[in-house]
Amino acid sequence: MQKRIGACRAHTNIALIKYWGKRDQTLFLPTSSSLSLTLNAFYTDTRVQWLDNLSNDLFYLNGEKQSKEETNKISRFLDLFRDELGINGYAKVESYNHVPTAAGLASSASAFAALAGACRESLHLDWSNEKLSTFARRGSGSATRSVYGGFVEWNKGTSSVDSKAIAIDDANWDVGMVIIAINKAKKKVSSREGMQLTVATSPFYSQWVEQSEQDLIAIKEAIANQDIQRVGEIAETNAMRMHATTLAANPPFTYFEPETLQAIASVQALREKGFTAYYTIDAGPNVKVLCKASEMSQIKQHLSETFTNDQLITTTPGDALTRLDHWEYEDVTN
Ligand code: ADP
Ligand code: DP6
Repeated sequence: MQKRIGACRAHTNIALIKYWGKRDQTLFLPTSSSLSLTLNAFYTDTRVQWLDNLSNDLFYLNGEKQSKEETNKISRFLDLFRDELGINGYAKVESYNHVPTAAGLASSASAFAALAGACRESLHLDWSNEKLSTFARRGSGSATRSVYGGFVEWNKGTSSVDSKAIAIDDANWDVGMVIIAINKAKKKVSSREGMQLTVATSPFYSQWVEQSEQDLIAIKEAIANQDIQRVGEIAETNAMRMHATTLAANPPFTYFEPETLQAIASVQALREKGFTAYYTIDAGPNVKVLCKASEMSQIKQHLSETFTNDQLITTTPGDALTRLDHWEYEDVTN
């Protein structure tokens, strides 16, 4: 019998047209389609081994054995593969985040895309990335998009089978991002809870969905024209409209911190200086600045007048999910 072991690397992605709300909580079907840029700087490596001597799944993150609660999340995800393939057995999952965990820098996106990929490798499945993305989706919605590199659309679809990622453009032109890491601590309101509360209570929510559909059409045209300024304008307004829905939720909440507003002001000042720079913000205080790759280091230099150097990370677009033939980490044992 072939050895059932496999490993993959997936990069995080930052949405330019946000996913903010589910129409089906169990299947992770979104209310609207979204579009992202995969990032080179942040990624997750995950290895899955199906072992005969296990009586439950094991999960190690960054070399540390994880709690029952965290391991259960992994088991529920592995169940998707067990159910689909009609197999039994347990797996040892080892994962390394090269991205802060649960800090609004999209660790769950790279995490579940890498885990889905490692499942495909370990079980020797002949599945396309599109199909795999429908499995990644059920670990975390944003993970749907991390199976591809560059600009990626997650089409909301009509069912669990066609709510999947599509590669739009490899972003192999003058595209970059500067991340302003304002607070890398675990956030208070997870994206999952935040979007659920917003869908249920924000009177602005239906307008958000309508507007987002228009934004998606417009941004795809701007990407096709390699018009980074237009891409940035659309992404910035889309992000702010998403955050407006949270202010109108009941109870109201916001992911912004004082430094988030400072970062917004810095980006506006960069534009006044003539740079092409636009911000986007996810379910956390950190600010991501979409810009030209050719202006990235100058932008970083300007931002370093307000933020420390270790708060500023520059990145070019990242690649699709890749199989890891060599596992560079030490073996963990419990
Ligand atoms: P983020 O902004 O980092 O995506 P979320 O709260 O959306 O924050 O997701 C973080 C959660 O994703 C973690 O609490 C953990 O349950 C899961 N996660 C993060 N990294 C991994 C990993 N490498 N493997 C499996 N699950 C992970
Ligand atoms: C604001 O994918 O973390 O980053 O599907 O519940 O796991 P779950 O949520 P998650 O939400 C991401 C929200 C966002 C926007 C985006 O990435 O599109």
